[in-house]
Amino acid sequence: MLKIRPNDPCPCGSGRKHKKCCGAEPEGRGRFSLLSQKRGRYAKSPEEIAGMRRSGRFNAELMEYLRPLIRPGLSTEDINGIVHEYTLRHGHIPAPLNYRGFPKSVCTSLNDVVCHGIPSATEVIKDGDILNVDITSIVAGFHGDMNETFYIGTNISATARLVTETAREALKIGLRAVKPGRTLYDVAAAIQDYVEARGCSVVREFTGHGIGRGFHEDPQVPHYRTPESRKVLLEPGMTFTIEPMVNAGHWRTRVLADGWTAVTEDGSLSAQFEHTVLVTEAGVEVLTALPGSPPF
Ligand code: MF3
Ligand code: CO
Ligand code: CO
Repeated sequence: MLKIRPNDPCPCGSGRKHKKCCGAEPEGRGRFSLLSQKRGRYAKSPEEIAGMRRSGRFNAELMEYLRPLIRPGLSTEDINGIVHEYTLRHGHIPAPLNYRGFPKSVCTSLNDVVCHGIPSATEVIKDGDILNVDITSIVAGFHGDMNETFYIGTNISATARLVTETAREALKIGLRAVKPGRTLYDVAAAIQDYVEARGCSVVREFTGHGIGRGFHEDPQVPHYRTPESRKVLLEPGMTFTIEPMVNAGHWRTRVLADGWTAVTEDGSLSAQFEHTVLVTEAGVEVLTALPGSPPF
């Protein structure tokens, strides 16, 4: 283990003394803090983990059901209906509905919509669009949260493919970075470096999140480097989402007058993929993947 004395130069490379930099508390937010996270701070109990496995599995089954139904000519309200009906038919709850006033059972985010798009009967998807469908279900009290971006039809622009494939791979890279003993900073850095090397940008105003009985729990899971993420140690039993939003242009977003729909500020295309994960002794278990589906 790395042992640092307070007057040593800080290993983060700042050039300052460790006690004035990452070693300072509570302001010190560096990776090489002398104080570590209280053990098991975010870890779930075995019963909670069993509940999370069930909700993740249901969410994955619903996505599997929905995937082949997506086609040009559907409205985003049609997709909302499919998700809503399937969820209720299986005895579960669509988490978005009435969550902080959200009016629908799923988020549908088209083209330059980054996230939290509201399904509408007048929004009809057409050849060449990219559409993200973000499904969150509550199963026996526990949340599962996953999303995918779909190509609509076949006439997909090079930029739409670039942003979508970059987001798809960014999630996989994030999943591979999850290991006990690492931090959320390591996950964020891996995603950010990949996305930026492809000439795209990582959205900053929205992040992944802890998840369990709550939809959005601590900690925040950013997809770009932040000082706070250096302090969050990955420990077995933690459950959280990874859900990088990738823009073809600048990362900045704005929220429309409906109070929900987040769009790229520059009008560029945006894509996203999301899974709910469990940190294990060995690394990661993707709770929103179907058993037997290829590992990331
Ligand atoms: N599913 C989104 C997420 O990944 C949150 C949607 S909140 C809602 O965190 F209210 F818009 F549904
Ligand atoms: Co989420
Ligand atoms: Co989601």
